[in-house]
Amino acid sequence: MVKILTNIESEQYMQTNNKTQATPFTLDISAVRANARKQVEEGAQTASYSGNVSEIIEQLNHSLATELVCVLRYKRHYFTASGIHAQSIANEFNIHAQEELAHADLIAERIVQLGGEPDFSPDTLTKRSHADYAPCLDLNDMIKENLVAERIAIDAYRALIRYIGDDDPTTKRMLENILAQEEEHADELADWIQSS
Ligand SMILES: [Fe+2]
Ligand SMILES: [Fe+2]
Repeated sequence: MVKILTNIESEQYMQTNNKTQATPFTLDISAVRANARKQVEEGAQTASYSGNVSEIIEQLNHSLATELVCVLRYKRHYFTASGIHAQSIANEFNIHAQEELAHADLIAERIVQLGGEPDFSPDTLTKRSHADYAPCLDLNDMIKENLVAERIAIDAYRALIRYIGDDDPTTKRMLENILAQEEEHADELADWIQSS
């Protein structure tokens, strides 16, 4: 059924539906061009960057240390796992190690883009990492320690993503992608615990 609108209703309808048209996109391109020429050494970090860059770099360095410790733990477990189910699980440990190294590379690259220095110092690595190295000898202990580390990384990434919010979409998107892979790792490890 077609409803005939009164003049007043018609005006209200037009106002409601034109709301998005009433607030047009604005960009002061002369200001953007002028700002782009200032502090060019800051690279990708332009005047519109609203994040607390030093805090974000510091937290990214904790994440970098965590990823590197995870690489070392997974590698240690890959080379030392033994037992009936060891070979296939050890191979997965090795795949995880490679994926954690790829995460470390992404984070280090982003720290540099933000004007910081990625901290690869081995002397302080375990102190700066959120998760433990946990060498382990038993296959089940290895699976459990890797699962604990993944769960720690998941919570730490979620907290950092929440902290960044809309201030730095590129860092946030990178962390969200890493988080998705940590969740896959945790899922796999939890399956192995249940099936062993
Ligand atoms: Fe990772
Ligand atoms: Fe992981």
